Amino acid sequence: MTDSSHTLWHGRFAGGPSEALMAYTASLPFDQRLWPQDVAGSKAHVRGLLRAGLLTESETHKIIAALDQVADEMSSGTFIFADSDEDIHTAVERRVTEIAGDAGAKMHTSRSRNDQVATDLRLWCKTALLEIARAVHGLQEVLLAQALAHRSVYLPGYTHLQRAQPVLLAHHLLAHGWALGRDVDRLLDTLVRLDVSPLGAGALAGTSLGIDPAATAADLGFASVFHNSLDAVGDRDFVAEALFDLSVIGVHLSRIGEEWVLWTSEEFGFASLDDAYATGSSMLPQKKNPDIAELARGKAGRLIGNLVGLLTTLKGLPLAYNRDLQEDKEPLFDSVDQVALAVTAISGMIATARFHADRMQSAADAEVTSATDIAEWLVRGGTPFRQAHAIVGALVRAHLAEGTSLRSLVNAELGSEAAALVAPGVGVALRSSPGGAGPGPFEAQLRSFTELLTTQRQRLGL
Ligand code: ARG
Repeated sequence: MTDSSHTLWHGRFAGGPSEALMAYTASLPFDQRLWPQDVAGSKAHVRGLLRAGLLTESETHKIIAALDQVADEMSSGTFIFADSDEDIHTAVERRVTEIAGDAGAKMHTSRSRNDQVATDLRLWCKTALLEIARAVHGLQEVLLAQALAHRSVYLPGYTHLQRAQPVLLAHHLLAHGWALGRDVDRLLDTLVRLDVSPLGAGALAGTSLGIDPAATAADLGFASVFHNSLDAVGDRDFVAEALFDLSVIGVHLSRIGEEWVLWTSEEFGFASLDDAYATGSSMLPQKKNPDIAELARGKAGRLIGNLVGLLTTLKGLPLAYNRDLQEDKEPLFDSVDQVALAVTAISGMIATARFHADRMQSAADAEVTSATDIAEWLVRGGTPFRQAHAIVGALVRAHLAEGTSLRSLVNAELGSEAAALVAPGVGVALRSSPGGAGPGPFEAQLRSFTELLTTQRQRLGL
């Protein structure tokens, strides 16, 4: 049992908290990283107390100086945590009171840890999600650079993982680029919605002391301020939304990861990884493994788990603050950390990889990938598509059954103009409709994608 005088609530309690309670309820091990936000929020709060006449100039200066000292100790690693520090807010307030004495004891006037933690976490998200969005933008740039470096290379496009039609590699790479573009957009939208200060909501209902939450919101750089104190302290939509955004990024990275697992396999042989972005085997000397790609695929499960876990925590919670809400931080921090690591690793992996145009193109040049082009040639000559489909389907069946080349079968049945469509490298150029996979529409796509990246750079402050 620790001494009750060390808790923030000691007045009401005759005895101190048990070790079991502290061990189970403390959040310090994971919320320590909020100290910069806790210090910033506390400074804005005390400036608000000064404006409200609840602190004198000298008290305010003392507290601000103590908060600066806390920041120095935290950043230099010399801050000594006490056993009674159950969370970062308690630790900061305790230390400020040690340094600033009676003035420090006034810092928590008109404030609860409920509005404090919500403020800290929103401030943290503002920085963290912007950094993630910038990193995702960086991955889009990598995809664009590789697309531009391999402008004329083509590979089979797949449906059901069966070869379908040839597509430009650049088109394929930018397909991921557009998905990541939506991820950046989503993060920016989330950032707008979470940019609301909860500070001044108190424990749940505001306070009788004349404070001005709008002024503290402005001081902290929030775009707006809460309208309802219960909502301000009870809402964790912004965390759920961040976890959703991060999960979608994780899902996108998992699809990219799966693709690279396939592409770097001997069976596909479409690409090989730089040694710096591959791993070896402890037993099998010949192995070169795509572990980054596999973990990008695997960790998506954990990101989705973090989202589902938090939503489950929130479900059915009564207004306003409940300690359950402390469960918001670990999934959020984990998802942000994991996505940051993943985006960096995948970006490096793709930036340094080698693409094997010969393997990609010879796979795309398999005669059957021209089947649709022959059917469309028939359509141009007036044959209804369904009949054209059946005619070419029968030719493909004969080709597969007899082993005769499709080109000679088409030549015999439909003539040389149709047979020319089966020749290597012809098909990709025929994907000419807007947004299609051939070189013609790719030019327009490239312009749009470049515009998207330019707009994003402005929005991301890059
Ligand atoms: N560590 C707590 C959390 O993360 C801070 C708020 C505690 N509030 C309270 N009334 N016990 O949610």
